[in-house]
Amino acid sequence: MTDVNTALHLKGKTVWVTGAGKGLGRAVAVALSQAGARVAVTARTPGDLESLRCELAPRGGEVLVLPGSVADSAVVRDIVARIVAAGTGRLDAVVNCAGISPHFTRSEHVGDDDWRQVLDVNLQGTFYCCREAGRVMLEQSYGSIVNVSSVHASRGFERIAAYAAGKGGVEALTRALAVEWADRGVRVNSLAPGYFRTDLSAGLLDSRRGEGIVRRTPLGRVGEADELGGAAVFLASDASRFVTGTTLTVDGGWTAW
Ligand SMILES: NC(=O)c1ccc[n+]([C@@H]2O[C@H](COP(=O)([O-])OP(=O)(O)OC[C@H]3O[C@@H](n4cnc5c(N)ncnc54)[C@H](O)[C@@H]3O)[C@@H](O)[C@H]2O)c1
Repeated sequence: MTDVNTALHLKGKTVWVTGAGKGLGRAVAVALSQAGARVAVTARTPGDLESLRCELAPRGGEVLVLPGSVADSAVVRDIVARIVAAGTGRLDAVVNCAGISPHFTRSEHVGDDDWRQVLDVNLQGTFYCCREAGRVMLEQSYGSIVNVSSVHASRGFERIAAYAAGKGGVEALTRALAVEWADRGVRVNSLAPGYFRTDLSAGLLDSRRGEGIVRRTPLGRVGEADELGGAAVFLASDASRFVTGTTLTVDGGWTAW
C-alpha cells in the first residue's frame, strides 16, 4: 500500500508546464516545484520564464527554461527533446496550461483568422504537446498528462464560440488519449478551471458580467491562481494513479447550479 504523502510528492520527477510565464501556468509550476518536481517551463515570453526561475531557484527548485509557441509542432518537438536530453532522460508529467483568451465576438461576426488563432493554440497546441510528451511517456511506460480545459467546455456562454469549441475539443482529446494509452502506462486527464483572476480573464471580470459571475459562484468569489496548484499536483502525481480520462473541475461551485 502506498502512503498518500509519498504518492503526492513529485521528488525525482520531471514535469513540463506550458503557459508557465504567468497566470495559472506559473502558479501550477510553483506548486509542482514545491511538491519536489524538477520543472521545465514553456511560454512565449522568455523574460517571464526567467523571472519564474529566479523565484524558485533560491528555494532549491530546479527549473529548465524553454520558451516557444505550442502552436508550432516543430518547436514542441524540439522542446520535448531538450527536456529529455537535459535531465534524467525522462518526462514524468506535463500540465498543458498554454492558452489564449476568447475574442468575445458575436459568432456571426467571427473571422476565419480569429477562429483559427484560438484553435491553433488552445486545441492544436494541446494536441502537439500531448503527442510529443506522449511519445516519451509511452516509451518509458509511465506518465501523466494534464490538459487545462475550462468550465466553458461544458457550459455555454455568449461570444466565445471558438474558445468553447477548443476547450470542448481538449476534453474530448483527453478522453480519446486516455483510452488509447491506458494500457501503456500513460494517464490523461483534464483540469477545468472556473473563473480565476489572471490577465486572460481580467477584461471579463472587470466588465459588468464580472459581478454576475461572482454572484453565481457558490463560494462567492473568483479563484486565485495558486488555488489550482493542488489539483494539478494531484493529477500529475501517483496520488491519482487510478484516475484517467476525467475532468477535475475547480470553479468554486460555479457549475454546481
Ligand atoms: N483565468 C481563467 O479564469 C481561466 C478559466 C478557465 C480556463 N483557463 C485556461 O487556463 C489556461 C491559462 O490561462 P491564464 O488565465 O493563466 O492565462 P494568462 O494569459 O494569464 O497566461 C497564459 C500563458 O500562456 C502562454 N501562452 C499563450 N499562448 C502560448 C503559446 N502559443 N505557446 C506557449 N505559451 C503560450 C502565455 O505566454 C502565458 O504565459 C488557459 O488555457 C486558459 O484557457 C483560464
